[in-house]
Amino acid sequence: METTGGIIRCGGAAYVLLGLLLLTTLTRISALSVTVNDVECIYEYVLYEGDTVSGNFVVVDHDIFWSSDHPGIDFTATSPAGNIVHTLKGTSGDKFEFKAPKSGMYKFCFHNPYSTPETVSFYIHVGHIPTEHDLAKDEHLDPINVKLAELKEALESVTAEQKYLKARDTRHRHTNESTRRRVIFYTVAEYLLLALVNPERRTMLAVFNKSVAKSPVELQQSPQNGAVSALKDGFLATHFSSTHSGSFVINLASSGFFAYSSSRQNPLLPRLFAVADDMFCLFEGHIENIAALKQQYGLNKTANEVSIVIEAYRTLRDRGPYPAEQVVRGIAGRFAFVLFDATSQSTFIASDVDGSVPFLWGTDAEGHLVVSTDTEIVKQGCGKSSSPFPKGILS
Ligand SMILES: *[C@@H]1O[C@H](CO)[C@@H](O)[C@H](O)[C@H]1NC(C)=O
Ligand SMILES: *[C@@H]1O[C@H](CO)[C@@H](O)[C@H](O)[C@H]1NC(C)=O
Ligand SMILES: *[C@@H]1O[C@H](CO)[C@@H](O)[C@H](O)[C@H]1NC(C)=O
Repeated sequence: METTGGIIRCGGAAYVLLGLLLLTTLTRISALSVTVNDVECIYEYVLYEGDTVSGNFVVVDHDIFWSSDHPGIDFTATSPAGNIVHTLKGTSGDKFEFKAPKSGMYKFCFHNPYSTPETVSFYIHVGHIPTEHDLAKDEHLDPINVKLAELKEALESVTAEQKYLKARDTRHRHTNESTRRRVIFYTVAEYLLLALVNPERRTMLAVFNKSVAKSPVELQQSPQNGAVSALKDGFLATHFSSTHSGSFVINLASSGFFAYSSSRQNPLLPRLFAVADDMFCLFEGHIENIAALKQQYGLNKTANEVSIVIEAYRTLRDRGPYPAEQVVRGIAGRFAFVLFDATSQSTFIASDVDGSVPFLWGTDAEGHLVVSTDTEIVKQGCGKSSSPFPKGILS
């Protein structure tokens, strides 16, 4: 903070003044920096009534690490009489200028409505240009000094502008770094979570009667493969329930069954199950373009991943506007899902094109199709006749 309210009295050579100007410009390069917790005020004395008070401030350390909608900083300038002469609301920085209604101590306050402290870079300048009134009063003052004072003021406003831009630049750099930090943080957190919950993740299973879904030809059984009958006496469903805590089995009568465990879910790849109009769907993973898909399929805000898959299938079945593979490719993210349509007795099974969710399929001893995210379960039912589910392709 600095004041340059003095009148230039020396009528000396212009270069002396120029040198002085340069010196003052150099010494005033850094603006004042204040950390605003709640309210912070700065005082500045204005020597003459009618002086131009100008300045700017920029919230440099806009600490929006967790929240992106900071309401901004409020700014007020109060005159010695207590009147508010200038006010700015909810801003990340701005310039201001006003004519001082009277001389005296002016108060400049920043109000931060948010609980996180913010650093504000603040710059103020009180400019005084001598008037004819001053000229009459002071015999040392001549018109050339007035011109020089005007020149000084012009130079001052250039300096102020530079400071403002510099502060804004710093602010952008901070925001950029904060965004990058945030991205890195979330990526690291995601990997940690994945590492933590990975062992418990493979817990979704569907078995379909061969009359409903065709098993892959290359996985057809030969007697020595060690497979069992997955559907007989509910063998695989029972095995699944006994090895997975908090599991659910959805019986599809003679068509097969769905089973999934809802305990210890990966929060980033949740398992979801839904039934709508006799369509049963088990979904694991997450969809990135969820908002766009909701719009595409005319779903409201409450729709989740599994309802999107059901709607995508319904569109495919009823209107078939494009190939099924295109529908799956249109879903961005990491996922695997199994859908059974009881009305048409057909299945719709897919995983994302990258195969991010471990997903296997196999054939049991009787030729029924087994799909699961659990290697051990598929081995139990199909022996050696299992393989990773073909990425992104439907059954
Ligand atoms: C923000 O960072 C990106 C890359 O990390 C860079 O390309 C961009 O120029 C930066 N923006 C600013 C204002 O520094
Ligand atoms: C498979 O479906 C056929 C035809 O619907 C049925 O006769 C058979 O009992 C089913 N098998 C099982 C194990 O439910
Ligand atoms: C959203 O749609 C579902 C069915 O698709 C309906 O049950 C639900 O009431 C709808 N919610 C709103 C807020 O419209």
